[in-house]
Amino acid sequence: MLNIILFGAPGSGKGTQSKILLQNHQLEYISMGDILRQQIAQQTPLGLEAKALIDKGQLVPDDLIIKILEKRMAEAKTTNGFLFDGYPRTLAQAEILEQLLTKMGTSLSYFISLEVPEEELTKRLLNRAKIEGRSDDTKEVIEQRFKEYEAKTKPVKDYFAQKGKMIQIVGTGTEADVAERLDNILRK
Ligand code: AP5
Ligand code: MG
Repeated sequence: MLNIILFGAPGSGKGTQSKILLQNHQLEYISMGDILRQQIAQQTPLGLEAKALIDKGQLVPDDLIIKILEKRMAEAKTTNGFLFDGYPRTLAQAEILEQLLTKMGTSLSYFISLEVPEEELTKRLLNRAKIEGRSDDTKEVIEQRFKEYEAKTKPVKDYFAQKGKMIQIVGTGTEADVAERLDNILRK
């Protein structure tokens, strides 16, 4: 199995690069942000709970996120592998994922971190706000998302770095530039 975590700060291009990657690799795509936004659109109890936090730029609690992950992984339609976007965002989430992969007799193939300076991230997200109108793409909420990222999510990168699994790529340049860098890693 090819199991990839696409990691990065808000606006680093996880969603954009996932779409490109899925054109060439048949993987089960798990985008935690997309799943939560679907729940919000359907006004499920989980969606309502998540919306209050997402609109403040805060992370949704681990126990809820882990339940979603377990369900989605069990429903996987392909056995080729998984592409994780926006998961894991805490150390607890990272450890659970490793356990679930081990249970399936597989493991993480790549942890790829998209590196983009904060100034560029802000520019991208404010620009996306005009196009997509995501409720968490306002200046105040973006700042809070960055704070959550620094405090709770960045340690996940160090965790996989210590295991020798973390690969950083430059996330600036055109979408095609970044896709090519990603492709170079997966070819090796
Ligand atoms: P999530 O939806 O994952 O949001 P995020 O991490 O803030 O990331 P984004 O989706 O904003 O950015 P992206 O990296 O996907 O970039 P994109 O490709 O869109 O999570 C939302 C919320 O849900 C969280 O804040 C949290 O509350 C909750 N949540 C989700 N997962 C959770 C978890 N595991 N635990 C707890 N809570 C969780 O690109 C951004 C923009 O830039 C786009 O407009 C794009 O077109 C543009 N762009 C992309 N690449 C380039 C490029 N190379 N050059 C110029 N522009 C570019
Ligand atoms: Mg995204």
